[in-house]
Amino acid sequence: MIVLKESIDVNQTMASVFKYTSDFKNIQEWDPGVISSVKKQLGNPRVGSIYDLTLKFGPFRPKMTYVISEYSPYSKVILNGKGESFKATDTIAFVQTPVGTRIDYRADIQFSGLSNRMEYFFAPALKRSGKKAILGLKETLNHGSRFARKNTWFSSGSNIVDYMADHTFFFGMLMFSKLGYLMSRRFWAKNDEILYGKKVVITGGTSGIGRAAAIKLAEKKADLTIIARNEQKAVTVCQAIIAQTGNSHVDFLLADLGVMADIKQVAKHLIDRKKRIDVLINNAGALFNDRTETSEGFERTFATDLLGVFYLTQRLKDSFSKSGARIINVSSGGMYTQKIDVKDLQNTQQPYDGTKAYARAKRAIVILTELWAQQMSRAKVAVNAMHPGWVDTPGIETALPGFHSLVHSILRTPEQGADTIVWLAASKEAGKWSGKFWLDRRPHETIVFPKTTESEKERQALWVKLNRLTARF
Ligand SMILES: NC(=O)c1ccc[n+]([C@@H]2O[C@H](COP(=O)([O-])OP(=O)(O)OC[C@H]3O[C@@H](n4cnc5c(N)ncnc54)[C@H](OP(=O)(O)O)[C@@H]3O)[C@@H](O)[C@H]2O)c1
Repeated sequence: MIVLKESIDVNQTMASVFKYTSDFKNIQEWDPGVISSVKKQLGNPRVGSIYDLTLKFGPFRPKMTYVISEYSPYSKVILNGKGESFKATDTIAFVQTPVGTRIDYRADIQFSGLSNRMEYFFAPALKRSGKKAILGLKETLNHGSRFARKNTWFSSGSNIVDYMADHTFFFGMLMFSKLGYLMSRRFWAKNDEILYGKKVVITGGTSGIGRAAAIKLAEKKADLTIIARNEQKAVTVCQAIIAQTGNSHVDFLLADLGVMADIKQVAKHLIDRKKRIDVLINNAGALFNDRTETSEGFERTFATDLLGVFYLTQRLKDSFSKSGARIINVSSGGMYTQKIDVKDLQNTQQPYDGTKAYARAKRAIVILTELWAQQMSRAKVAVNAMHPGWVDTPGIETALPGFHSLVHSILRTPEQGADTIVWLAASKEAGKWSGKFWLDRRPHETIVFPKTTESEKERQALWVKLNRLTARF
């Protein structure tokens, strides 16, 4: 349970303060975390009055409902709130003072499925958001609603770290964790479409998310090829998938996807073997904490997470099926923190930071997704990017051991992380979309921080550079 307690003094009478504050249709005027609040009944607030709220959590728009459970004019109101993964009780007490009214605001918040340790971890960011809301209430009551809205976290100049802590990190944490998956899946229809006869290619199917996706795709009867770099692992995984699913149409091809010469060769073998491709899943990727270069002289993050994805997709361009092929690019929520730097794609101009390099490559993948979606729309190829959430895989454990041990209990399983990949590959609904960025079967904004927006010129420059760098192979 997280308890937020704040008190403010305002220069208004108890009656007017009570009337304004207790009617939660006004909350959007003073709480910057609320986009809208709709009162479900006409007339004055009373016990049983219901408010449907849309909240703003970074790129997400979760819903919650408040019901008034105690209404004692002009001294107290209690509202019980319920979101998809949390409950809140807001107790607001009003006391007359010589100059106006004091409001004592207390919120008791309980997240379902969150350990004590994680609550402790989230509490500071949540308390900061609560403080901003109650200060917004104070400003609104003393100066009117326009003042409070202007003074939100976004326009008050609060720095990016604050914004991250309050919005992206905290809320991202929830949505990217298994809670986000469990919350979202309540709204899903069954994904029972099969992929019988569909030629599906997945990179990085030997571990983590890719392996879980490969099993599901084989269960859906896809004709599946895994592109892997480690032959022994590939043999073992293919044998296991065939044994588990009974689908014998599972094979592999070998390539190091950070090496362009390998990619050129594997693309040729794929086209020779498959003739046409219905689904390409660019899943392989990694975060490297130290800067190293491939045998071809490319910085490894750039080569594996961006240039290789670009080159493989471009090499296969003419072999995508003419009847609704799909490309799925596995990006990451980390990309929200970074803008591309076209002048420094290979991370040479600043001290190397693996997380930043990874996020930039994943940002570029989202841009490529949008560019390909436009270019391939006439060929009826749907191109989408997705974020699997934060998933307990060997990759994350190796790259971010501290993060892994801290949040281990709320990470998704590989199957949960793979769900949207499989849905994008197989479902009829997903086939209607192209150029989007998905998390848990829902399209999401690609920009959270305005400063991470690239210009059209930078998008074109990215395209030209990737083409130039791969032209010699
Ligand atoms: N886990 C998360 O929380 C998370 C979050 C956001 C995005 N992602 C993305 O999800 C994707 C899968 O990651 P994961 O967490 O499942 O990691 P993982 O367990 O390390 O699996 C990565 C897969 O990619 C393969 N791979 C890596 N580099 C390769 C290369 N140069 N050539 C060929 N194959 C290569 C690996 O092959 P080996 O088996 O030979 O190592 C493995 O099959 C990645 O794109 C990652 O960036 C993951």
